[in-house]
Amino acid sequence: MATDIGIDIGSSKTVIFSSSKVLLELPNVVTVDSDTWTPVYFGEKAKQTKGRTPESYVVVSPIERGVISDYDIAETMLRNYMNEAFGSKILRPRIMATLPAGLTELQHHSLANVVEGAGGRNVFIIESPLAVAFGLGVDFSIPRGTLIVDVGAGTTDIAVVSMGGIAVCESFKTASFDMDAQIIRYVRKEYNIEIGALMAESIKIKLGSAMERSIEVAMVAKGQNVFTGLPESFEITAGEVYEAIKDTINSICDAVRVVLNKTDPDLVADISNDGVFLCGGGSQLAGFDKKLGEYLDIPVNLLPDPSHSVVKGAAAALKNPDLLKNVDYRMRSIKELEIE
Ligand SMILES: Nc1ncnc2c1ncn2[C@@H]1O[C@H](COP(=O)(O)OP(=O)(O)OP(=O)(O)O)[C@@H](O)[C@H]1O
Ligand SMILES: [Mg+2]
Repeated sequence: MATDIGIDIGSSKTVIFSSSKVLLELPNVVTVDSDTWTPVYFGEKAKQTKGRTPESYVVVSPIERGVISDYDIAETMLRNYMNEAFGSKILRPRIMATLPAGLTELQHHSLANVVEGAGGRNVFIIESPLAVAFGLGVDFSIPRGTLIVDVGAGTTDIAVVSMGGIAVCESFKTASFDMDAQIIRYVRKEYNIEIGALMAESIKIKLGSAMERSIEVAMVAKGQNVFTGLPESFEITAGEVYEAIKDTINSICDAVRVVLNKTDPDLVADISNDGVFLCGGGSQLAGFDKKLGEYLDIPVNLLPDPSHSVVKGAAAALKNPDLLKNVDYRMRSIKELEIE
C-alpha cells in the first residue's frame, strides 16, 4: 500500500504519484448524461468523446484554468481515479494535493474537501510552485530567491519562492490550451477548415515551436470545410504554427518579466545567478526554454520530466517534515481549518 501520495489536479489532467512513481495520469474530462447529470465516461475515453457525443451527453472539464469549476463532478472523477490507482480502500496515508499560487483560503479548503470526499484522508494542500521548490531540494533555511515557471494547460504559474514562502506570484491565465485555440483560429481563417481540439493539440506537439525553426517541417491534418461541411485534409507547416502561437508565447514570457519587475532586487540577483526553473507540460514546446532565456536574458533550467515536477514535489514535501518546520508554509489540513 502506498504511503505518501502527491496529487496534482490540473486544468488538463490529474497525476497521482507515490512510491517514486506515477501511479495514474488521466485527462480531467468527464462525459455526463445531461438528463440525469450522472457521469458516463472518465479520462481518456471522455476526452475522445469531445465533439463526438450524442445530444444527451455533455463533456465537462471540472477544472478550469487551475481552479475547480464543478465540485461534484471533480469529486466523482477523483474518486474514480483514486479507485483506479489504489483500489476502493480508504486512503490512510498522507496526501499532498496542489493548487495554483495566490488563491484564497476557501479555495484551499474546497480542494481539501474534494480530495476527502473522493476517499482521501490526512489531506494537505500546497501551492504548486512551493511543491516544485521542495522537489528541487531548495534550502528554505537561507534567504535566497528561486523563480519557478510552470507552463500548464490552463495557467502559467509564476512564483518567486524564498525561505519556504512565496514572495511574488502570478497565476497567469494564458498557457498551452491557448496555443491550441490559436491554431484552431489560424486554420479556420487561412484554410476555411474547422479542426477539433485534439487535432490542434497534436499539431502543436508535432510542429509547434517557441522560435522559428531553421528547417521547415509539415504535416497533413484533417478537419471539416466550414462552407461545405465535408471532411478535408490540408498541409500545415511549422512556420505557420509558429505564426499562430507566437503571440501566446510572447505574452507568457512577458508575464514572467512582469513578476521579475515586482521582485526585490536581491532576489532578482539570486534568480539571475541560479536561472529560472521551468516546468509544466507546456514547457516541452520545442525551444521554449531558449526563447524564455533570451527574452529575460537569464539562464533557464528546463526540469527533467517537466510534466511531473509539481506532483513529485508535492510528494517530496510530505517526506521532508524537518523542512516544514519554522517556515512560512501554507500546508493546512481541513481539520486545522475547522478548529480555527
Ligand atoms: N511536447 C509538447 N509540446 C507542447 N506542448 C505540450 C507537449 N506535451 C504536452 N503539452 C501540453 O501541455 C499541457 C499540459 O500541461 P500540464 O500537464 O502541465 O497541465 P495541467 O497541470 O493539467 O494544467 P494547469 O497546470 O494549467 O492547471 C497540454 O496543453 C499539452 O498539450
Ligand atoms: Mg499544472
